[in-house]
Formats: sequence, structure tokens, C-alpha cells
Amino acid sequence: MPDIESLLKERRSFKPSADFSRQANWNKRTTSEYRKLGEKNPTKFWAKMAKENVDWFKPWTKVLDWKPPFAKWFVGAKTNVSYNCLDRHLEGPNAWRKNKAAIIWEGEPGDTRTITYAELHKDVCRFANVLKSQGIKKGDRVCLYMPMVPELAIAMLACTRIGAPHSIVFGGFSAEALSDRINDAQAKLVVTADGGYRKGAAFGLKEMVDAAVAKSPCVETVVVVARTNQDVEMKSGRDLWWHELMADASTNCPPAKLDAEHPLFILYTSGTTGNPKGILHTTGGYLTHVATTFKAIFDIKDDDVYWCTADIGWITGHSYVVYGPLANGATTLMYEGTPTEPGPDRWWSLIEKWGVSIFYTAPTAIRTFIRLGDEHPKSHDLSSLRLLGSVGEPINPEAWMWYHRVIGGKRCPIVDTWWQTETGGIMISPLPGAIDTKPGSATKPFPGIHANIFDEEGNATTGEAGGFLVLTHPWPGMLRGIWGDKKRFKETYWGKYDNTYFAGDGAHRDKSGYFWIIGRIDDVMNVSGHRIGTMEVESALVSSTDVAEAAVVGRPDEITGTAIVAFVSPKATTTADDALVARLKKHVTKEIGAIARPTEIRFTNALPKTRSGKIMRRLLRDIASGRDVAGDTSTLEDFSVLAKLRESEED
Ligand code: WTA
Repeated sequence: MPDIESLLKERRSFKPSADFSRQANWNKRTTSEYRKLGEKNPTKFWAKMAKENVDWFKPWTKVLDWKPPFAKWFVGAKTNVSYNCLDRHLEGPNAWRKNKAAIIWEGEPGDTRTITYAELHKDVCRFANVLKSQGIKKGDRVCLYMPMVPELAIAMLACTRIGAPHSIVFGGFSAEALSDRINDAQAKLVVTADGGYRKGAAFGLKEMVDAAVAKSPCVETVVVVARTNQDVEMKSGRDLWWHELMADASTNCPPAKLDAEHPLFILYTSGTTGNPKGILHTTGGYLTHVATTFKAIFDIKDDDVYWCTADIGWITGHSYVVYGPLANGATTLMYEGTPTEPGPDRWWSLIEKWGVSIFYTAPTAIRTFIRLGDEHPKSHDLSSLRLLGSVGEPINPEAWMWYHRVIGGKRCPIVDTWWQTETGGIMISPLPGAIDTKPGSATKPFPGIHANIFDEEGNATTGEAGGFLVLTHPWPGMLRGIWGDKKRFKETYWGKYDNTYFAGDGAHRDKSGYFWIIGRIDDVMNVSGHRIGTMEVESALVSSTDVAEAAVVGRPDEITGTAIVAFVSPKATTTADDALVARLKKHVTKEIGAIARPTEIRFTNALPKTRSGKIMRRLLRDIASGRDVAGDTSTLEDFSVLAKLRESEED
């Protein structure tokens, strides 16, 4: 994570080329008009965007109904997300797009599929009919637990076509985590695959679903895509093959005319407690937000090949692999596997092979490639690229400069986009033809977005300032709640300041009004751009029979941004040794998934606590970062002296 001292010394600034600015979807003039309108009248601005970028079956009677913290956008309007992503590219002035590639997909082994808008439309209608035939009705939840295959996008769009909210669970989560999420959403149907490819081998997913569904009685049906053709058990009366169902399904399925506030999807994300939150997004506002930001920030043109490397299991994949691009009739590239398989140049070879012109990835990946060496990108022709993006974590200026120089050939603007699962779409970002970029800054809020920085006391700041990042006006893509938990929704996001959304990030604004995001200031870690709650890992650890108590903190890591360090006090009957380290890492993987596995586990007799019994997290963070004593993994460390020294400070 970049520290604020070095960020504030950053003086480099890059102008977009005159050529880029001239052809930009939003040039300097439009952007400045929109900024003014969005500043003065955000609802008017968003209503204009909703008219321009989304097709509606019925207009709204009111743009925004705001009863803090509950917002309704485009009240009374009716639309359908799959209609906007598919049907409108097959008829009217854009009918020529029917034979345009909607999805270009490449599997890790090198197999490929190109799916046109007309073909995608057919498959989506077929699967929507499959869902209906399995008893899925408007409002029923469908869980998608899949590898990065086109069937995932097809299933999402099919859900939106009939108004069944989807809940996608990233394929790296364990059976335990999957079951928790299925139960929380009470999903009736799960779509999965036999497996997928990663790191040169097939992994299994169906067995995870079997284990999860054993604990999730709400699930009636499991639909399985054959991807790897490995052996799987199919339970009769419950499990059905995707290809068999699709073979018999009709391609005729009119889109449901859904209320703008109809639930579109739930996506679970980590918070500061052990239980993940089901973030709820709805139809019209979300679509308006992602369609508009995609068009403006990624400057999409009909001949672009756009590639966002995120897995669809995360919000970036929802908004900017599937919905934003398809709503704009773009060609979106999907890649199934690991970035370095079969070699460290796989990504660059994909850019060259498919002529990718817009590329959106995460700082962790960029830092990994810096370490692998410039020769890999340099061995490929990357001249098709014209725009680069970054998301998920703060990008340190050095990584930005490398991205600019080695990948962008110094000619591509970089859009560093700040947003969250909760915001639905991008909130702070350069408009690439209209603003000078500075390495490490997400620049300014998107027009119509009212972001500010509040100080420790909760006062709004102006001009140059540092503090907590907040949003002071509702926006169309904002979360509408936490699934089944109004109280937590109010407390987490709206409890700190009146009528103001608290993002949980620290930020700084410089003299020219540019935002520099520092990262999470709560007990959420950002590991390789993925959010993981310290409490989640702690509850996984203490659920092991070996552990009496555990505290988890993040420490800065050059590649992943944050590394997970667990301080564990073992039960008296357990020996603290390397075997226990291995056992606990495996246990966390089983409880949550490999993404939450601690990098380091340190054993201690007792966790350092204040007089009032609070774990001294700041002390542990310092110890984990090596700012204080460091011990040997297999001996029990004693922090009591350090704790005494610090006591007054943390109590
Ligand atoms: C962090 C991912 C700095 C931030 C879209 C936020 C960023 C969390 C940036 C949300 C950025 C995201 N610069 N930090 N450009 N983008 N973050 O929900 O801490 O997976 O709160 O959404 O990622 O993570 P989430």
C-alpha cells in the first residue's frame, strides 16, 4: 500500500494526447458540462444518462426517492438488463451488431469460442427457459458457482431476463463458504461446472457443490456445465447437465418487464465481522451507472476489443466484464486461467492474438509482471492497446509508471478507477480524454458523484485534506441494502455520519482536487485486490480444535498489497510446530478458501491485550510488519512486555 508521505511527493503528470482527446466519447467540453450539471443537480444528470444509455419499457415518474439511507432510483420505470445487453443490439439502428462478437473466450488450455450477439441472445433465452422449467420464478435466487466460461455470463443474463436475482460465488471459495452464502440467500438452484482449468490442470467444482448442498436444504436443483469432462457424481432428481437441458430449450423468451428497483443480484463481500455481507443491487440504477461509466471511462468504440482480467465472481467482473460492456454492444474478452500459464507471457500473447485495445487489470498483477521481467511483454506486439485501467487496490506510482511505459508504450492513458462492491460501478476515475493523470491518483469523482473527505471529527473538508472517504449524495448504482440485514446496512455505511455513506477507505485530496486513495482503514484486508475480513479468518482459525485464540492482521506485501499474518495461541494440549502451521493453513482453506490462507502463522502463549481486554491490533500489526521484535515460527512468542509498554496507547 503506498504510504501517504511518498504519494504527496509525487509530482509527475501526464496529458492525454491530442489525438486521444479528439476522438474521446467524453471530451473536455462534454466532461466539463457534465461535471457542472452533476455538481449542481445530480438527479438531473443521472436522468439524462439513464435516457441516453438505457432503453426503458416504461418511463419513471420520479428520478430519485431518497429516504436516508434508502434510495429508489427511476421510480415506476420498467426495464430489463438482458434486453439492454442483447435484444437492443439485434434490432433498430444497431441491428448490424447481431453478427458482432459479444464474447471472445479463451480457455487456459488454448481452446477458444467466439459468441456473437445473436448467438448469445439465443443461448440466454434458452437458459432462461431452462430456469423456468426448473420452477424458477421472478424473485427466486439462483446461485452461480462456476469457472470463467461463457456459460457463466449466459446464466447471469438468463437470470436477469426472468427477474431471478443471481448470487455468484467465486470459484475459489470453499464448500463451507459456498454453503453459507447459499443459505443466506436461500437459493433454490445452483449452476456449476464439473470443474475448470487453472495452473495447467483441471480442478473440481462439482464436489464442492455436493458438499455445500448437503448443508443447504433450500437447493432443489443443480445444473452442471461439462467443462473438463472429469468424473462427477450426478444425484438423480437433483443434478442435471447443462447441455442436455439446453438441447431441448426454446430460443423464444421475451424479457420480463421489471421494476427499476427489482433485485438484480446479491454479491457477498467481507466486512468487519465473521459473516460476509450480501450486497444487494437492483435493476435500473445499476444498469444506468455501469453502462454510463463504461462508455465514458473506457471510451468504448464499436471496433474495440476490451479485456478486463477480473474473475466474474467479483464485482469488477459483474460490472465490467459482463454488464457494462454488453450494455454498450462491446466485444468483451474472457480468459479462463492463470496469467502465467503455460508461460509468463500468456496475457501479453492474448493481447497480441486478439488485438486487445482496452485492458483493465489490478495492481497486484502489474507488480507480479514487473517482477517476472520486461522481456515477456516486450516479446509481443502490444501496439493494439490504446487505453489501460487499474482497479481493486491503490496502485503505487512505480507500478503505474511501469504499466504506462512497458505495457502502454507511453501512448495509452491509464484510468485508475476507485469503487467498491457496494458502489456497483466506478466512482472516482480519470475521464481519459479530458484530464491529466498523476501516477497513484484516481483523479476526480465521476460527474454526478459527490465524494468528499471527512476528518476524524466528522467534519467535511475542502481543498487539500486527508481523512475518511465519504459519499454525500446517493448515486444510481449504490447498494440498496445488505440481504436480510437492515440494521447492519444502516450501521456499517450510514452510522458514522448523518445521511453520508462511509466507504471504509482513507484518502487524501491534493491542491488541484485530485483524490489519492490510501486503502482500508477498518479491519478489512485487501489481498491481491480481494477483500478479506480479519474476523473471518479469525473465526475460521478458532473453529479448529487446536486453537484457543487467534488474531489476524495484514502486513504490507510488495506483490499482493497485503499479506495475512495470524497470531495464534494454541490449546494447552497442542504442540506448536510446523505441522500445526500446515494444519491451520489447510483448515482456513477448507473454511473459506485458498485466498484467505495466512502467509504467516505465529504462535504465542497469550495475545497481547489492553486492560479492558481488547486485543492490541496496532501492536500486532507493527510486530507483523517487522517494526518490532520478530520471533521464530515454532516457538511460543511472548508479547506481554511489549503489551505493557503500549498499554496506555491502545486502551
Ligand atoms: C480498494 C473492487 C485504491 C478500496 C472494485 C475499496 C481501491 C476496495 C481502488 C473495494 C483504487 C478499489 N485505488 N483502492 N483504484 N479500487 N480499491 O469491493 O480499499 O472488491 O474499498 O471492489 O478496494 O473492493 P471491492
